[in-house]
Amino acid sequence: MPDRVTILTGATSGIGAAIAAELAGPDRALLLAGRRQHAGDAVAASLPGNVRFLACDLADPSAPERIFATAREMGTIHTLINNAGILLPGRADETSDADWNRIMDINVNAVFRMSRAAIGPMRDAGAGVILNVASDWALVAARGALAYAVSKAAIAQLTRCMAVDHAHEGIRINAICPGDTDTPMLARGVTGSARRARIAEIGAAIPMGRVAQPAEVGRVAAFLVSDAASFMTGALVPVDGGNSTGVGA
Ligand SMILES: NC(=O)c1ccc[n+]([C@@H]2O[C@H](COP(=O)([O-])OP(=O)(O)OC[C@H]3O[C@@H](n4cnc5c(N)ncnc54)[C@H](O)[C@@H]3O)[C@@H](O)[C@H]2O)c1
Repeated sequence: MPDRVTILTGATSGIGAAIAAELAGPDRALLLAGRRQHAGDAVAASLPGNVRFLACDLADPSAPERIFATAREMGTIHTLINNAGILLPGRADETSDADWNRIMDINVNAVFRMSRAAIGPMRDAGAGVILNVASDWALVAARGALAYAVSKAAIAQLTRCMAVDHAHEGIRINAICPGDTDTPMLARGVTGSARRARIAEIGAAIPMGRVAQPAEVGRVAAFLVSDAASFMTGALVPVDGGNSTGVGA
């Protein structure tokens, strides 16, 4: 029986690497897609089972064609996890057209193109799962990260609309909405004890009093793409220590 293939974008660090660690094993082949060949090969080599890494820039509109061609060589495409994303901070008056377009290109356009490419093979197979990594900032307002928060809100609606369009085809489409998580994206550019202090400060504003560890997000992602979540579609699932309740710490 051919392998069921899971495509995971942005798997070389942070939440993506944690999801890859949760999913790798005998039940599925994993195709990791990201920019950094060296880091990607190292992640793939560290995981058990049939795991490959494909270097690509998701801002390139031709990337999905290459990714899905490689996935088809590995088996039947069953799951797509759109995890890759970027954050460029700034309020409206601090956001250039170039920054706005860069964020929309990677966080929204690439997710749309990858998801569109997944529908045909999943429909043909009679089953499929798409999981988008959004953010709690898709659910509540954020200060000083306008383009990023708007991009993640777009992903929330892409998730819900695609879920209803394709539910009758056996394709489940959900989003996970992580809160602040201890990855290279958080407190980027700050290192050492200053970074630890900044992360503690961010955590203090969250009801649970801390930021998430990547594995805490990875475990929920693994559940959502598993058959245990067989009646879930169109869901936006916060994994945010209570942040999106809006009550604060
Ligand atoms: N860390 C947080 O606090 C947090 C909170 C909510 C949501 N998220 C989301 O989680 C996802 C993973 O982020 P992370 O926190 O692990 O950060 P990260 O920076 O460690 O990971 C981002 C990944 O996306 C990849 N990527 C970025 N641009 C790409 C491109 N053009 N082509 C291919 N790959 C590209 C990077 O190489 C990296 O592997 C993102 O979508 C992010 O928006 C993160």
